Amino acid sequence: MKRQSNISHLQCVTCHREYEPDELEYTCPECGPLKGTLDVHYNYKKVKKVFSKEQIRDSHIYNHWRYLPLLPVENPSYIQPLQVGWTPLINHPRLNQALDLPGLYLKDDGGNVSASYKDRASSVAIVKALEKGYKAISAASSGNAAASISAFAASAGMPCHIFVPDTIPSAKLAQLRAYNADIILVKGTYDQAFEECMKESEKHGWYNRNTAINPYLCEGKKTGVLEICEQLNWQAPDVIIIPVGDGCILSGIWKGLIDLYKLEMIDRYPYLIGVQAAGSAPLVRAFNDNSEVISMENASTIADSICVGYPRDQVKALRAVHQSGGLFISVTDEQIAEARQMLAGKAGLFVEPAAAASLAGVMKLHDENKITSDQTVVVLLTGHGLKDIRAYV
Ligand SMILES: Cc1ncc(COP(=O)(O)O)c(C=O)c1O
Ligand SMILES: [Zn+2]
Repeated sequence: MKRQSNISHLQCVTCHREYEPDELEYTCPECGPLKGTLDVHYNYKKVKKVFSKEQIRDSHIYNHWRYLPLLPVENPSYIQPLQVGWTPLINHPRLNQALDLPGLYLKDDGGNVSASYKDRASSVAIVKALEKGYKAISAASSGNAAASISAFAASAGMPCHIFVPDTIPSAKLAQLRAYNADIILVKGTYDQAFEECMKESEKHGWYNRNTAINPYLCEGKKTGVLEICEQLNWQAPDVIIIPVGDGCILSGIWKGLIDLYKLEMIDRYPYLIGVQAAGSAPLVRAFNDNSEVISMENASTIADSICVGYPRDQVKALRAVHQSGGLFISVTDEQIAEARQMLAGKAGLFVEPAAAASLAGVMKLHDENKITSDQTVVVLLTGHGLKDIRAYV
């Protein structure tokens, strides 16, 4: 197949070996699935010719494909006609006044086609599956990635095999059923679902959309920050706060910033703050102790989307926070519930608990004076409130 994208190569995050995109599918064989995740590199000189601020502004494409030259797409005819990205960045005076943070912006990703940030990654994954000639796609997920890839697979007419914990909130399960996914309910945790999906996908030759191991997901997940910088008139904010489970959204945000910096479209980096739930915070512990990530066997939180005992994108996520000079912090379930209510009650934004974790992180850091009123702070709201209504019924 003739390559149309501007990708130059893939590179292992640990041993730094470089690979041609056609040489392998998922991770570096020398370093394995956890340490051997891959970065996608572009020919930035080539990108620059077709990717100026003016060219983007004049594209009149109001979804994340407005950044196509910086995405890993070889055949654009496989892009599904579903809404992904170009979501609002909201500066909400009433909420900001209540929090005493005039420079607070909310990136509301609940309006994506399956109602979460994961559509950014799934929209890329389905293109890769089609380009590579796969006949089926698979994913393990706490729920949102599953709902998301099921939507794109339905749109493309591709069978989709989904591994989710049997504790999945009913709205997410309803999405899977509606999109006709083959649902494998795993009696166990998300971490167990992940392993089962790895095994079965290899056995059956399904294209595996599991987070972190698939290098192209990070590219889809970076588009939120391309939008944030453009929406702020190509100024990087001071701080970006991201809810973290496996760490792939966070590492995607960092990748987007690196790409923009290399292209001289921003002139500084924000601090990245990764927020985990206190009952599921292995990255917070590893960051604070400057140690390896230790699996939390009994991870538990009301924020099911970030209930992850062993984060799969740990290498990239820790690297991102270290390089940005940021932090990992944890918030309690009570703080998450309070932030969720604050968003709905003061701003009219109903988000799922995992999304509210990021605002809970802002509130905590503001109390500790680590975020101040003069800063531009962007919070990622990663999933819609109707995904999980248990707290309100
Ligand atoms: C709503 C929501 N927020 C945050 C996350 C965390 O993303 P990641 O696992 O990439 O850290 C997820 C992942 O499922 C999610 O669905
Ligand atoms: Zn390697």
